[in-house]
Amino acid sequence: MTSDALKRQAAARALDFVRPGMRLGLGTGSTARHFVELLGARVRAGLDIVGVPTSEATETDARCAGVPLTTLDQTPHLDLTVDGADEIGPGLALIKGGGGALLREKIVAAASDAMIVIADESKLVPALGAFALPIEVIPFGLGATKIAIGRALETLSLSSELRLRMTPDGHPFVTDGGHRILDAALGRIPDPEALAGALAAIPGVVEHGLFLGLATVAIVSTRSGIRVIERQDRP
Ligand code: A5P
Repeated sequence: MTSDALKRQAAARALDFVRPGMRLGLGTGSTARHFVELLGARVRAGLDIVGVPTSEATETDARCAGVPLTTLDQTPHLDLTVDGADEIGPGLALIKGGGGALLREKIVAAASDAMIVIADESKLVPALGAFALPIEVIPFGLGATKIAIGRALETLSLSSELRLRMTPDGHPFVTDGGHRILDAALGRIPDPEALAGALAAIPGVVEHGLFLGLATVAIVSTRSGIRVIERQDRP
């Protein structure tokens, strides 16, 4: 089975958690796109839900699939968000933002009662950090922000080149919010909470791709079947 087929299988399983009347956060990326497509088919068959997209790309996909959309201004409280991830670590701590949508993804997940992460087995890791951590920054003062991030990493005994994300045609990648992304290849993040706190305290950092305490369930599709992993520390 290809990795794309595994992603679709995880997306299909997430539909079991969707109930009529739900207000849904719609994630971004290739796995979330499968979910949006499959959800669209259910909507066309009569399912009554409404979705908030986490990116311009997902908004386009959702419109194509016929998923009715709203915004967090009109619908500030969501029942469930379904999204992909770049890494799923212990306690369902995540790295997200490989597709550049981390800011809206985090706002939407934080506005939701629950977040289901859908992924193929390659995303499940014993410790976060092999995937370069996306850090979304304001373009103004980028050089100074970069130095501040470097210092924060040093205080945590972490080090990484901070690579400005570029588009395939050689321009700086611009997020839906008009910001830039620095990718930090850290190798291993021993204390994600400490790093999240340090990054959040830096002026110029808009958001980072550590999603801690947000995912409630992970649906991980493996070649030997689907694993549904629930976060243990939930009340
Ligand atoms: C988008 O910004 C990301 O957070 C994606 O959810 C993440 O990169 C997973 O993407 P895939 O489903 O394409 O692997």
